[in-house]
Amino acid sequence: MELVDGKKLLAKVKLELKSEVQKMAHSNLRPPHLSAILVGDDPASKTYINAKIKSCEEIGFNSSVFKYSENVSETELLNKIHEINQSKEIDGLIVQLPLPKHINSDFITHSIDYKKDVDGFHPINMGRMVLGLDCFVPATPFGIMSLLEEYNIETSGKSCLVIGRSHIVGTPVSILMSRNKKRANSTVTLAHSKTKNLTSLTKEADIIIAAIGIPHFIKDTMVKKGCVIIDVGIHRVPSDKTKSGYRLVGDVDFDKVKEKVSFITPVPGGVGPMTIASLLKNTLFSAKKIIYSRT
Ligand code: GUN
Repeated sequence: MELVDGKKLLAKVKLELKSEVQKMAHSNLRPPHLSAILVGDDPASKTYINAKIKSCEEIGFNSSVFKYSENVSETELLNKIHEINQSKEIDGLIVQLPLPKHINSDFITHSIDYKKDVDGFHPINMGRMVLGLDCFVPATPFGIMSLLEEYNIETSGKSCLVIGRSHIVGTPVSILMSRNKKRANSTVTLAHSKTKNLTSLTKEADIIIAAIGIPHFIKDTMVKKGCVIIDVGIHRVPSDKTKSGYRLVGDVDFDKVKEKVSFITPVPGGVGPMTIASLLKNTLFSAKKIIYSRT
């Protein structure tokens, strides 16, 4: 079994991006700037935003976070998004999800200028991704594809089971894995909450991308020997072994499943860091387009 180390790959991506920022500075170009909107007090969302902003600082990107209380109105958020859309100094904008129930998340994320939509959630980016055109690929699926590439994991002709059909992960990654591209060309099955006999599918799969949202859902008895496991889940579960009183686990029963597989992503330290790496790459991509179009 080989551990697919997202943390290590993130460190490598950061070095590459830091050097890009330095090259831009030598040409008197400002650094890329990522903005984030954070609503409410969800501890997980706060942690993700902090990690994204810290990474920006480490590589010399500018960043800004706009924080709102749980009961913010849609109009207030839209006003801020419009302001950032117009800004010549900001290249990328993300609105951390989930949003409170009274806010229409689609409405909010679709109001971000698609040219600054570094999360790749806007219908223009999604549509362009489906057509294989230049676009912002959503950060988590982009990160998964980068891990497969980095570890030289064969995907062509393989059966790939994606579990979970969210707009953020399952749906886009199922499209990316089935594309006619070198690190893709898989035969994809997209399973979801209404899928019958899921275990018969997991047992047949060469690659499983688990984005189910249930801790330790995938057991060793459900997977075939030598398969590749990409675990997108991240859950806090109580633990008496840590100071915080909890530990992070994925959708996969890692300790048992790892004994059977060829590659597996750990939680934490697998897909999560790669989501950040992809967001940073998308922000640089956007900055170059915005800055170079004005020079
Ligand atoms: N919440 C969980 N994953 C993501 C993500 O990739 N982007 C944003 N904006 N929110 C999320």
